[in-house]
Amino acid sequence: MTTDEGISLSRGNGEAPQDAIDGRRFRDVLGHFPTSVVAITTTVEDDQPQGLVVGTFTSVSLDPPLVSFLADSSSSTLRTIRTAERFCANALASNQERLSRRMATKGIGRFDGVAWTPSPLGNPILDGIVAWVDCVVEQVVEIGDHVLVVGRVHDLRVESVQAPLLFFRGGYGDYFSNTALLLDRLVGW
Ligand SMILES: Cc1cc2nc3c(=O)[nH]c(=O)nc-3n(C[C@H](O)[C@H](O)[C@H](O)COP(=O)(O)O)c2cc1C
Repeated sequence: MTTDEGISLSRGNGEAPQDAIDGRRFRDVLGHFPTSVVAITTTVEDDQPQGLVVGTFTSVSLDPPLVSFLADSSSSTLRTIRTAERFCANALASNQERLSRRMATKGIGRFDGVAWTPSPLGNPILDGIVAWVDCVVEQVVEIGDHVLVVGRVHDLRVESVQAPLLFFRGGYGDYFSNTALLLDRLVGW
């Protein structure tokens, strides 16, 4: 941080000032904030599915109903979403780590062998997910090297009581400590 007089401030504990933050430290610390794992899907003109995995999906506003995610400015899926002006957010389940890896890999047919049905807006709803939110793009804001995509909720639904897939410290994980989920698992065994 810099004062009006141009003096650079450190955090007061002897560590480097904020303008010295490098990418590795940024990724490392931010990786300690757990996130959901959400497949953002859309289709290109000939109804071909397209999508990517994000850890940045969040609700924004209840009235009007808005949600958002952040996409790297270079994202090819982002380009399609900007054209299609719609997307669906799919909350992946704890047993969908392989699907997540697939949806985050460049240069492969991400939807090869992946079962899905069209949402009310025509976006892919992936089989086996926890919940989905179908959106029309409301706003697109360029921020740093990412683009904030705000969607107006058109429809949404919970699909299953499965535990969600989570991401923390660079790895995938599960969510166990919820009584209702534990009971569901026990009943399912
Ligand atoms: C857990 C996880 C979270 C991710 N979160 C984001 C994100 O919020 N925004 C983003 O642009 N990419 C994110 N990625 C990376 C993209 O999924 C990946 O770069 C993908 O190949 C981009 O595809 P595209 O360029 O075809 O759109 C994430 C990947 C993983 C595994």
